[in-house]
Amino acid sequence: MHLQLHYHNDLELSVVMYVCLCNAVTDKEIAQAVSDGANNLSSVQNTTGAATGCGSCKRTTEILIDQCLAEKLIDAA
Ligand code: FES
Repeated sequence: MHLQLHYHNDLELSVVMYVCLCNAVTDKEIAQAVSDGANNLSSVQNTTGAATGCGSCKRTTEILIDQCLAEKLIDAA
């Protein structure tokens, strides 16, 4: 996996991780898809294109979706 560093105006550092190299989909794009309502692998695949190529990122994508859904539930509580 590749890491990409972004520097913002306020010098805050954030790290973007490419989850799907076939389609250049980052963890932040998957998190945004879940935030926008995607709640399973199929809907994230349709929204972002992640895990629609070689499939090697499928399990990582599923884990990330589960983590995002759990955070969403915690935020809603
Ligand atoms: S790395 Fe995601 S489909 Fe190939």
